[in-house]
Amino acid sequence: MTETPLKHLAVIMDGNGRWAKERGLKRTKGHEQGAEVIRDITTYCANHATIESLTFYAFSTENWKRPKLEVDFLMKLLDRYLKNELKTYQKDNVRFKAIGNLEEFSKPLQKRIKETEEATKDNTKLTQILALNYGGRAEITTAVNQLISQGKQQITEEEISNALQTPYSDIDLLVRTSGEERISNFLLWQLSYAEFIFTPTLWPDFTPKELASLIKNYEQRTRRFGGI
Ligand code: IPE
Ligand code: IPE
Ligand code: MG
Repeated sequence: MTETPLKHLAVIMDGNGRWAKERGLKRTKGHEQGAEVIRDITTYCANHATIESLTFYAFSTENWKRPKLEVDFLMKLLDRYLKNELKTYQKDNVRFKAIGNLEEFSKPLQKRIKETEEATKDNTKLTQILALNYGGRAEITTAVNQLISQGKQQITEEEISNALQTPYSDIDLLVRTSGEERISNFLLWQLSYAEFIFTPTLWPDFTPKELASLIKNYEQRTRRFGGI
């Protein structure tokens, strides 16, 4: 049994497009269904005894390569999700936070993100972090440039950690759905000692019940962090 409680769970939500394709639907339907799953998983984590932070990969710096129609749909969906979600954040006592380069989003969407962060900032049960226009390499590069601009000549690991947008804590468990077994430029720095679980389930089919069973799997692992 791991003695390291699961405090920070990170999730790469993948397989929305394939889920829709299997049903003869447009990819956008998969994203809509996927947004429902984010809500269920967040509520589950808010009620979990040890989880403090839950980070979802929602839009990568590489996802701009997708057709404009799909990107536009994802932006609208995000805005609608945050608008509708405010009630649930308050009910579940969840604080919302966004990481990533938000400046490339439209002004109204940036405003929605800031307002949601502000409205939920005193909630204490769980921090839900959405990675939006996020890339692990971009995050590290920005952190290092920030330290350079402060006049630093030598930089420590601790300084980099603190300059990242995700200074909450290292990731304990990373789950990726849809059967792909890669990181796709997610939380490169914070994943250095994370446990990984890849499940073939497509994100729109993922449930709190499956998450509970993956957490059991995590709890059976021995994390050595280089020790014995
Ligand atoms: C994940 O599902 C959602 C985002 C990346 C926004 P995908 O859209 O990548 O679904 P697949 O991988 O094409 O099935
Ligand atoms: C990773 O999924 C990004 C998100 C889940 C937001 P992708 O579907 O974009 O990743 P690749 O292209 O399969 O690596
Ligand atoms: Mg994908």
